[in-house]
Amino acid sequence: MPYQTIEVKKLTPRIGAEISGVDLSRPLGNQQFQEVHDALMENLVIFFRDQKLTHDQHKAFGNKFGELHIHPSSTHAPEGHPEILTIHADENSKHVAGEEWHSDVSCDPDPPMGSILYLTEIPPEGGDTLFASMYAAYDKLSPPIQRLVEGLTAIHDGEPVYRGRFGHRDARGKEFPRAEHPVVRTHPVTGKKALFVNRNFTTGIKGLSRLEGDALLEMLYRHCETPEFQCRFRWQPNSIAFWDNRSVQHHAMWDYFPQARHGYRVTIKGDRPFYRA
Ligand code: SIN
Repeated sequence: MPYQTIEVKKLTPRIGAEISGVDLSRPLGNQQFQEVHDALMENLVIFFRDQKLTHDQHKAFGNKFGELHIHPSSTHAPEGHPEILTIHADENSKHVAGEEWHSDVSCDPDPPMGSILYLTEIPPEGGDTLFASMYAAYDKLSPPIQRLVEGLTAIHDGEPVYRGRFGHRDARGKEFPRAEHPVVRTHPVTGKKALFVNRNFTTGIKGLSRLEGDALLEMLYRHCETPEFQCRFRWQPNSIAFWDNRSVQHHAMWDYFPQARHGYRVTIKGDRPFYRA
């Protein structure tokens, strides 16, 4: 695709591109906004270097793509910015956000369309984020398995993640989202089909026994993690990753303990997933 206001350098043939020629602290003009959007649709996740954003500028960039989402378990939003999720790990961390392959908040009935992560502090080595194309995951299933999964609905549950694994202190009496989504979803912009189950939130398949559902999900998860569907982003301070949760899963690599890693994420609201044959 020809771009006139930005440069787009692909990381792999299937997924990921580094974008240059744009200052995200300033309002994007119509053409530049359209080209950034097109680069995201074409590459599924896009990366920017050397950006300096205040919380308001970060939110303004996210807002160009839609209304901002407030995370159901956020406990560390910066003062006055409930739409910002602080991503932080250091020598006191027991876990980090996103260390399991997932699509953000897929337990929401209308899961987020995209997420924009801005990291300001990076460990000396490690702390990469891995991204995998769920278009490739669907396309590379053999036709009989494609036909099997196309008719299925999965259950996605935030409870075991946010209360169980993350054990939020203030979660008493709080309800976390739970939703049913097609196992294969049609992307509302590109019309392509993507696998939409993940290890973090998906707990079962409707209408299948526990044994059948668990076995099928484990096969799909392992398939989704195929290295040739992936790209891996090496962060620097003030880098940004913007991913499309409708076509991508990601995994935050926590290989840098006890070093610190710090930044902020804004998340853009999305639509109800659907499947169109
Ligand atoms: C996330 O899931 O948003 C965290 C990703 C990361 O920290 O690399």
